[in-house]
Amino acid sequence: MTQDQLKQAVARAAIEYIKPKLFSDSIIGVGTGSTANFFIDYLGEIKSLFSGAVASSDASAERLKKLGIDVLDCNSVSELVVYVDGADESNPYLHLIKGGGAALTREKIVRAVSKEFVCIADESKWVDVLGKFPLPVEVIPMARSYVARELVKLGGAPVYRDGVVTDNGNVILDVFNLQIVDPVALENRINQITGVVTNGLFAAKPADVLLLGTKDGVKTLLPR
Ligand code: A5P
Repeated sequence: MTQDQLKQAVARAAIEYIKPKLFSDSIIGVGTGSTANFFIDYLGEIKSLFSGAVASSDASAERLKKLGIDVLDCNSVSELVVYVDGADESNPYLHLIKGGGAALTREKIVRAVSKEFVCIADESKWVDVLGKFPLPVEVIPMARSYVARELVKLGGAPVYRDGVVTDNGNVILDVFNLQIVDPVALENRINQITGVVTNGLFAAKPADVLLLGTKDGVKTLLPR
């Protein structure tokens, strides 16, 4: 199976997973990226089962709207029944690295508002220790150099993601060379640096379930 076929399989599995949780007034949180895009496309087939969606990026919002799915402002919603999104890495505790698509801050907001986070990923994202994928950090443009120096003090090697401006008007530093043995501590530590909006570690609030696409089928994994 190709990586895209694995992504399609987990996107399809996510539809089956969320269906029993939906009511006609339910609002769903929808993520960003190639795996989330497959999920959005399948979501169009069951749009009569829920009321609308909150998207973690302008790109996902556009894709949802094209399918006739109502996209709501997060501020008008008190709770999302479920949030479905991909990841760049997951460890067995379902601590994640996200933000490869630069949508990490909105993803964290959607995650915070959601009752349950269903992560969908192909098996290439599964790791024992997070950090092989460079950790994205969203930064206020004025603080870029300062934050980069602070990240070096933490042992990382930050690289400016040239030409990328987030949906919030900020920039991204991708931090290489991190062996993230305590993801919760590092998530909190980086968020304390002045000028950081947020970082791509989803450890303080990890995924609740991971649907992992493997050559042997989709595995439903709970946090260790
Ligand atoms: C978007 O900012 C990311 O968090 C994505 O969820 C992550 O990069 C996974 O993307 P793919 O599904 O394209 O691998």
